[in-house]
Amino acid sequence: MHNNILDDLTDYPFDRLRALLRDVEPPAGVAPIHMQIGEPKHAPPEFIGSALVDNMADWGRYPPPNATDGLRGAIADWLGQRYGLPTVMIDPARHIALVSGTREALFMAALLAVPETKAGAKPVVLMPNPFYQVYVGAAAMARAEIVLLPAGPETGFQPDFSAVDPAILERTALAYLNSPANPQGSIADLAMLESAIGLAREHDFVLAVDECYSEIYTADPPPGGLSACASLDAGCKNVLVFHSLSKRSNVPGLRSGFVAGDADLIALLLRLRQYGGAQLPLPVMNASEALWRDEAHVEHSRALYREKFDLALEILDGAFGATRPGGAFYLWLDVEDGAAAAKKLWEQAGVRVLPGEYLAQTDTAGTNPGRRFIRVALVHDIETTRDAINRISDTLRT
Ligand SMILES: Cc1ncc(COP(=O)(O)O)c(C=O)c1O
Repeated sequence: MHNNILDDLTDYPFDRLRALLRDVEPPAGVAPIHMQIGEPKHAPPEFIGSALVDNMADWGRYPPPNATDGLRGAIADWLGQRYGLPTVMIDPARHIALVSGTREALFMAALLAVPETKAGAKPVVLMPNPFYQVYVGAAAMARAEIVLLPAGPETGFQPDFSAVDPAILERTALAYLNSPANPQGSIADLAMLESAIGLAREHDFVLAVDECYSEIYTADPPPGGLSACASLDAGCKNVLVFHSLSKRSNVPGLRSGFVAGDADLIALLLRLRQYGGAQLPLPVMNASEALWRDEAHVEHSRALYREKFDLALEILDGAFGATRPGGAFYLWLDVEDGAAAAKKLWEQAGVRVLPGEYLAQTDTAGTNPGRRFIRVALVHDIETTRDAINRISDTLRT
């Protein structure tokens, strides 16, 4: 079988990194440290253990198509409290879809949002550059044209929707926004979210706001797509937000997230998932409910990330443009040539990081906005982090 679209997709960043480092050995006698992947390594809360094993009979039942009432209620309560939403805004029965992690839901968003044509031409999917890889794969599989919006220092590392040509907006079927953003940690403020929602409604496209890092922030909790919906008209039209327990609760293996927003779009997503999605097992739903109802473990984890940023910034002392991002858990370091630095770090320091160019595409001006950067995931414990950042600092400064 031959699928041209899949053949045309660039290899996934981690495959490209494996290829880059195929013939490079880390130094002997030094324990390698893996910081290339955003896989949280803080301990997940112990209380999920009982939810997973107490009702073994539940493993023998097909799960309900869209979560238990308890889980949808916990999610609606969490959204209401986290974003200060009016109580009537989120109806757990109509505005929430449970998903097996947000990766697949972000992918499915393109399948449901992109029609065959828009304004009589090929539909467009807008996304920031750099971006989370799934957006590109989703847009390509939905046979849309990808339009990359620069998200570099000039625009505060977030895309500027207001700069998009209206003719492109007319053809836009879907726009991805990511806040706090992977890899730069930048945050879309309320005004930016409101203006993106305004454009989505004016030009009738779906705004997909990827908020999987929403709970990992430095100062104030970042606003979300739903806060902007609340401040505009308390309706969710054209907007979907994506939330995950992976980063919030350190359970990337649980594969538990949700999508909330526009009731019509949620209905379509649920329909699509009935045909092509896997439901979460009931014990996982029960564990998820317990996690959305608990904030103590989230605060604990957030404090640990803050401590690690303090430490990393102290060691780096302003080198490589190191700054404290608004959110997420990555250092986005300007090292002039990210691929060369990643190779050097693996070979000389046994630290594995991701070249920024693998998280971005070359734009129409011929520039890959990630080329100068490396992404360093601060996912380990404090001592491992200290060791790794010292190694990075020593190696790249010489
Ligand atoms: C920006 C972004 N969105 C979504 C995801 C998907 O997370 P999950 O599928 O675990 O919910 C990730 C994971 O790394 C991510 O970095």
